[in-house]
Amino acid sequence: MGAVSDYLRLMRAGTSLARHDVILPAEYKARLPLPARVAGGVLRLFSGGARGRPGERLARALEKLGPAYIKLGQFLATRPDVFGSEVTSDLSRLKDKLPPFSEKAARAALTEEFGAEEAARLFPVLGPPVAAASLAQVHRMDMPDASQRAVKILRPGIEGQLMRELSAMKRAARTIEGVSVESRRLKPIAFTETIAAAMMRETDLRLEAGGADEMRVLSETSGYFQIPKVDWDRTGRRVLTTDWVDGIPLTHPDALANPAIDRVALANDITRGFLTHAIEHGVFHADMHEGNIIVTPEGKIALVDFGIIGRISLMERRFLAEILWGFLRRDYMRIAEVHFEAGYVPASQSVGDFAQALRSIGEPVHGKPAEDVSMGRVILQLFDYTQTFGMAMRPELVLLQKTMVQVEGVARAIDPGHNIWNASEPVVGAWVRRSFGPEGAARLISTSLRDVTNRLKRLPEVMDRFEASLDAPPPAPPPRERFAPWWGWFGLVTILALVAYAAVLSLA
Ligand SMILES: Nc1ncnc2c1ncn2[C@@H]1O[C@H](COP(=O)(O)OP(=O)(O)O)[C@@H](O)[C@H]1O
Ligand SMILES: [Mg+2]
Repeated sequence: MGAVSDYLRLMRAGTSLARHDVILPAEYKARLPLPARVAGGVLRLFSGGARGRPGERLARALEKLGPAYIKLGQFLATRPDVFGSEVTSDLSRLKDKLPPFSEKAARAALTEEFGAEEAARLFPVLGPPVAAASLAQVHRMDMPDASQRAVKILRPGIEGQLMRELSAMKRAARTIEGVSVESRRLKPIAFTETIAAAMMRETDLRLEAGGADEMRVLSETSGYFQIPKVDWDRTGRRVLTTDWVDGIPLTHPDALANPAIDRVALANDITRGFLTHAIEHGVFHADMHEGNIIVTPEGKIALVDFGIIGRISLMERRFLAEILWGFLRRDYMRIAEVHFEAGYVPASQSVGDFAQALRSIGEPVHGKPAEDVSMGRVILQLFDYTQTFGMAMRPELVLLQKTMVQVEGVARAIDPGHNIWNASEPVVGAWVRRSFGPEGAARLISTSLRDVTNRLKRLPEVMDRFEASLDAPPPAPPPRERFAPWWGWFGLVTILALVAYAAVLSLA
């Protein structure tokens, strides 16, 4: 029964994707084998003249398919190393807006979370929704003491809805991985599992509350961002309450109209605040788009929405700082070496060739006027070389880099003359001096030593396991492939046939 409903869901998704010509897009025709080209041609009969780049069409198709697919699109947008920078930048403009659910449903959610009596006491007067997206909506609430709160409430039934769509996506991934050897490089099953886990995490608002609180504490020390306080008594799995932030979101045309606002300082704050979090603390807000940034009446930056928190290790922070420092000093050999040391580029590649590629990325932007110098461009070009040099980037690092592209975009929208390189120099420079000066070097060595000690401590255990493996019976033959090829093909052909059939129906 589960399988039937999965296929029905996939059919609906397939129809929408076919109508926007994103299954086997015309643009990729030249690269496809003949059968795929023919299949693509047939599917295009139903595409109704889809317009725009493939990424734009994909974004539109996903928007139509609803919450799970909108989230899927947002997730794909975080992997320019896998899908290329053009598709992901088109996808990152995907609109996460849905009609709000009723206040009655919002009340019901509060009652379910806190019980009728408590809900009435804790949330006396809930205002109308101020924003409604795929997973949740936000209400403003006036408190008896004249202060205000922002109350974020999950969409009714969203968890079940996501779970059902995810089950269908996982089935599609299993079929694809069973059928196509080429697809295994992208690990569709593992990829959907990761997406599923990320989506389910986003439906537990207590976790978001934890992230918001952690970022607030960090921001208080660095002083670049204002982050609203969590009201823990009014927060649960499906409800998150924080202080209301006075101000205007950057998406609003009047956000920067206030003459008290110093655009240059504001853009610098965004870049420096972000980099300070990432480099100094290894924790960052990974969804820095304009809707989540509010300009306060004092001309300061406030951040909301902590659904995605990025984390990078000390190694990766060092990597990031060295790369930025390398580009700032135009030391391409050093940047190349750092990539090899960190294991991001396989040792079989040539350091010299990689440094040459880096030079071709970095040099064109040097000595240019501020508005032509884009770090975003540099990073996106770096992603375009991931295939050429067989680079395996850690997903957290990719998330960081793509957020930097986002941060630069926002900073430049505020101040077109913003130069992220210059803006980042004080932050990166301070960290590099501290880390590689006498004091920082000592700390790096002590961390490495701790790592070595930890490994040594585990040595007896490893030896035990090694001995046990010598006594063990010979290993069993590898398990059979999950899909016998004919069944995999059968599944794929069935899905395609169903998609085509559904497309015909939807045209009729
Ligand atoms: N504490 C707050 N103060 C003022 N406005 C807020 C606050 N929290 C959220 N908002 C408004 O609600 C919108 C949606 O909230 P957000 O947490 O970003 O939800 P989503 O995860 O659905 O994007 C924000 O873009 C912002 O305009
Ligand atoms: Mg948001």
